[in-house]
Amino acid sequence: MSARIAPSVLSADLGRLGEQLAQAIDGGAEWIHVDVMDGHFVPNLSFGTPLIRALRRLTGHPLDVHLMVERPENYIAEYADAGANLFTFHPEATVHVQRHLAAVRERGMRAGLALNPGTPLSLIEEVMPDLDLVLVMSVNPGYGGQSYLPAATDKIRRLRALLDRHGSRATLEVDGGITPATIAEAWGAGADTFVAGTSVFGTADPAAAVRELVRRCAMRV
Ligand code: DX5
Ligand code: ZN
Repeated sequence: MSARIAPSVLSADLGRLGEQLAQAIDGGAEWIHVDVMDGHFVPNLSFGTPLIRALRRLTGHPLDVHLMVERPENYIAEYADAGANLFTFHPEATVHVQRHLAAVRERGMRAGLALNPGTPLSLIEEVMPDLDLVLVMSVNPGYGGQSYLPAATDKIRRLRALLDRHGSRATLEVDGGITPATIAEAWGAGADTFVAGTSVFGTADPAAAVRELVRRCAMRV
């Protein structure tokens, strides 16, 4: 198995979205990561379903939507209808986490939980059967271009062990500060999917950037 790269369109040039997307996919990007921010759960605003619909028209690749919003349950139906394939939210942003994970699956999407750097792993133990994905934040969410927090590596390692112990086949995704210099460490700790914004769309050649990220992991095997 090789590393799965999910470029984050937060760092893309939206005026050239189709072109940039095609370049990332040409380089081997498997999922497209979309960061939705509401200015409450995180101190920044980004985009909503109009972008999801635009991306849906541009590609058949899975749209990996990361909701950094309060009350994510209010948006499940809307994002499913817009064409999202994965719906990941933060447990602190709501109350009835298990109910909402189930609702995400009922709408035909895969369900994920995102863990902030300060959020303990123990939180997901209670909902393990309801999870298709766990997203380890390796920065505090809100902005692209931040540095990978080294503590994420041990958390990934512990999460991999926890998933294995429960026989869970959930995706282990990492988000924030993933570059050619940091990706191998996260891969070595047991992550399989990597969000990368700046290190893909902040470069002149997104295709080559995706290839380089995959290559760094392959070198580590
Ligand atoms: C952070 C977002 C990330 C971000 C990653 O709030 O969740 O997905 O776009 O950006 P880079 O790769 O630039 O750290
Ligand atoms: Zn994200």
